This record gives sequence, C-alpha cells and structure tokens, in this order.
Amino acid sequence: MCKDNNQQYFPAGRFQECLRTEKIARQVLWKEEIDSTNNWAKDYAGSRIWMEKGIKNPDGALFVAEKQTAGKGRQGRVWTSPPGENIYMSLLLWKPEIQPLSASQLTLVMGLSVAQGVEQLTGKRAGIKWPNDLVYSGKKICGILTEMKLKGQNPEYIVIGVGINVNQKKFPPELGDKATSLALEIGEEADRIEGIARIMECFEENYKKFLRTKDLSLMKEDYESLLLNKDQQVRILEKNSQWQGTARGINDRGELLVEDSHGNLREILSGEVSVRGLYSYV
Ligand code: BTN
Repeated sequence: MCKDNNQQYFPAGRFQECLRTEKIARQVLWKEEIDSTNNWAKDYAGSRIWMEKGIKNPDGALFVAEKQTAGKGRQGRVWTSPPGENIYMSLLLWKPEIQPLSASQLTLVMGLSVAQGVEQLTGKRAGIKWPNDLVYSGKKICGILTEMKLKGQNPEYIVIGVGINVNQKKFPPELGDKATSLALEIGEEADRIEGIARIMECFEENYKKFLRTKDLSLMKEDYESLLLNKDQQVRILEKNSQWQGTARGINDRGELLVEDSHGNLREILSGEVSVRGLYSYV
C-alpha cells in the first residue's frame, strides 16, 4: 500500500490512527499477494485461526491485499487486480443478526458506503448504477461481491469484497470504455489508506442503521440521491426475455422499482436480472 525503504507494507499504525470506527476494520490483515481477499476472509472465518490467536470473534475483520492472482467478480467473472494501484479488500461480518435473504442488501449498503467514503476522500461525487456499481463519467470504478456461509438457518458469516480502481492509469482495451479510476477522474493520485478508513467509517454508520430496521429504509434517501438509473429508461434482461421501463428508485429491500409500459411498478431483485441503460452502460 505504501512504500517504505522499497519495502511494500500496509501502514497499520497510520491506518488505525486515522480510522474512526468502533468495531469495523479494527482488525486488519494484509498480504502482498493472495488469490482473492474474499477466499482469504472465508478461509480465515472457517479455520478458527482467530480463536487460537485469542480473538473473541472476527466480526469486522478486514482483509486487504496489494495484488490478487484470482480476483473474483460477479457472475463468475474475473476481477483483474494489478499490484500497487488499487484497493482489494474484504470485510468479514461474523454471525450478523439478519435473515439470509437480506444478505444481498448488504451489497447496496457497501456500495453506498464506498460512494460516501470516496466523496469524502476526493471531494468528487460518484453515482451508483443499481445495485452497486460505482460510476464516474459513465464508467465503473468499483465492484462489490458478497458471499455468505450459512449455519443452519442463519448466516454464520458474510464476506463483502470490494475492488476499487484508485490509481490505475491504464486499462486493457476491452475495459477502456467501461472502467476508470479515481486518479483518472480527479487528476491526481489518491491515498488508498485514507480511502479505506473513510469507507469503513461510512460502512459502520450505515450498517448500524441497517441492523436497526434489517432493511435499507434508513438510508434509502441517501442511496437514491446517488442512483444514476433514477427516472432513466432501463432495459431489464431476464433469463429468457427482456423488457424496458423507467427506473423510479428502490424499495426498503433494495429492489429496483421499474415502471413498465402499462404504468405498473415492478420490483426487480438483484442477482436475478441485469439492468442496462438504453443508450449506455448506466
Ligand atoms: C463485480 O463483478 O463488480 C464485483 C467485483 C468484486 C471484486 C473484489 S476485489 C476484492 C474482493 N476479492 C475478490 O476476489 N473479489 C472482490
């Protein structure tokens, strides 16, 4: 993350000093290289290494890597993860008191938190393409992948993985018109350590709200104020069909509300469909 005497390391002291949270990211694990921070967080949770270390529970532990060799995106896609430039991190929530069906809402909670944290860091407001892509100038800067392990009927843990293009200046041709980075958007390099701290603070606040109502009702307004799809024409790609409508916002469960051509408001659950703008990616 930072270079010191040509040694790459995560400046844990500086990070903890600038982090204003009670629980989230108070434990940070860092590696120069890993296959995927999501896999690492899941292995850690399942292995009980934390018990041997005398840690009561690993709730809020954050896993950060400088490089991923097998970064995972949604729908089995690859998340290209070059070293030295970006943020690759996964947050572990241990035994969260929520229903398994609500876990996907945490992806939206994190999306909102990344948008707010990045705005605090750079002063520049990002938009959200539902459900959780963060977008500047019509291009994506962040992706989020949430994974869950159940124990009986309840989540034993949830891992929320976040990849943010921070200081990357060049993208492969196939991503050129779809991806951008904070540095390209603001014209200077951004501090990744401070960025992680701001995002974790925003997440802690939003997560508290989420746990109070077990839904997004307390942050719906904030989310919708950043939602680029709002009042825009969208194309809904279902498994065997597609239709067009106008996105009107989200409901308390984070489903996209889309008005169809008959004026009916339909609720679109993330994961089941893809949403595209009519004329561009958003
Ligand atoms: C997407 O497809 O938009 C989701 C991308 C999620 C990438 C992040 S990078 C950190 C974490 N580890 C992974 O393997 N994936 C997530």
